[in-house]
Amino acid sequence: MDKRTNPLDSSFFGHPKPLLSLSATELWERFSYYGIRPLLVLFMIAAMNEGGLELDRGTASAVVGIFAGCLYLAALPGGWLADNWLGQKNATLIGALLIALGHLSIGLSVFSSFMFFLGLVFIVLGTGLFKTCASVMVGMLYKDNDTRRDSGFTIFYMGINIGGFIAPLICGLVQKEYGWHWGFGIGGIGMLIALVIFYFKTIPDFNEFGDKVGLDQSWVRPIVQRKGVGIWVCIALILLAIFIVLCGTGVIALNAVFIAKNMVVFVAGGSLLYFIYLLFFAGLNNYEKKNLIVFLILFIASSFFWSTFEQQPTSFNLFAKDYTDRIIFGWEIPVAWFQSINSLFIIIFAPIVGAFWIFLSKRNLECSSITKFALGVLFAGLSFGVMMIASKIVLASDGGLVSASWIIISLLFLTFGELALSPVGLSIMTQIAPNVIRGQVMGLWFVSISLGNVVAGLIGGGVEADKLEALPELFGNCVWMLFGMTVLLLIIRTPINKMLEKNTHTEGKK
Ligand code: PHE
Ligand code: ALA
Repeated sequence: MDKRTNPLDSSFFGHPKPLLSLSATELWERFSYYGIRPLLVLFMIAAMNEGGLELDRGTASAVVGIFAGCLYLAALPGGWLADNWLGQKNATLIGALLIALGHLSIGLSVFSSFMFFLGLVFIVLGTGLFKTCASVMVGMLYKDNDTRRDSGFTIFYMGINIGGFIAPLICGLVQKEYGWHWGFGIGGIGMLIALVIFYFKTIPDFNEFGDKVGLDQSWVRPIVQRKGVGIWVCIALILLAIFIVLCGTGVIALNAVFIAKNMVVFVAGGSLLYFIYLLFFAGLNNYEKKNLIVFLILFIASSFFWSTFEQQPTSFNLFAKDYTDRIIFGWEIPVAWFQSINSLFIIIFAPIVGAFWIFLSKRNLECSSITKFALGVLFAGLSFGVMMIASKIVLASDGGLVSASWIIISLLFLTFGELALSPVGLSIMTQIAPNVIRGQVMGLWFVSISLGNVVAGLIGGGVEADKLEALPELFGNCVWMLFGMTVLLLIIRTPINKMLEKNTHTEGKK
């Protein structure tokens, strides 16, 4: 049956009905994530008598980096478990439950700081299942050649950013007025709303959709029914629990900065070894080897981009707290409110940027994916350039406050970078990757985001009053790194475009 002729199938602005409840679920899940994320660093560095954990900034920021880094890495096993054991529906449900438990645990951290870290672990495990499956489920609503697919994802992405916009506003305000645990608690309520919507609305909508137009079996059943997965999952969870108990009882003492540094070495080193294996031992021909090298450059560029973009909850957050004039009309804006700006700009500019690309392509001035990728990195560089100048002004006034416009303009550039790079990032990597790794490109894309997050945590901890003179350098190093990467991308742009043309050409012949 043609999907488009089915009345049920286009009942949400021309899109399949479940898209609405699915986007709403994701909106509230992201509400919980972006609601607590800006509070994490601030809570960890706050003094004990202010209800915080009184950790040093380097440690607090590294914890956020490790948390977000693990969260994206967890998407790899999360996606695998959904495909090979749980099916999308159960994986999302279990993921949502785990995230909700994580929030509960963080809410209960009034009693012990251990509950706080335990909560973070739960959120990592839950998000690994939930976030991957939610995106996969959007894809399931459309057949391969359905032209509505892209705009379906845009609607879903808008949901994400509506959540990302309102969460810091609400959680930040509640935290400022009523304290940390209320701030975290509101985030947790967001996750409960997500869970309720998913259970009572999304699942029935999907069932109805499945009955009417048919649905991929992996919605309820795994694509491959593998034996013994459950046992391995149990063993992994028991080991994790033992590790957590050992850490909680102080038998194993953890040092977040040390772990974050080693995580970078481990993840980057692991990826490099994998690339070396592919280059020399995977039987690639010369042409594929060239593709692989280009892919590696994109992988590094992507890690660089995310390592700056993901400094929003760390260095940007601390800069907003210590060096930004937050008083308007005699009222002090909560620090966390600055974390809403990126999502607000996405909501405003995503349609405009989309229209701009169409405008260009109608005039035959279409930007290739690699140009957009380079633009993304360039804009991130400009964003950090603004922060570098702002921090020079802070330094010149010996730690005085600067206008909030600096950070806002910087976030505007950063958002332009995100709008240029994020939507094409995965697709360009998919196009360039040699055939042997096509299926794993999604995973490698997540690995680059994960790496970026850990590095962002490590860099972000450097925003400290007694290291004020190093602040312009902290932002400046990011600027040079990003500009250098832009130049490299522009140099390889022409050969890449030729390569892509050739790829389409040979694929067309097949
Ligand atoms: N910000 C978006 C989200 O939270 C997507 C995204 C996050 C993309 C992080 C890349 C990295 O879902
Ligand atoms: N802008 C973040 C994401 O891409 C919140 O949607």
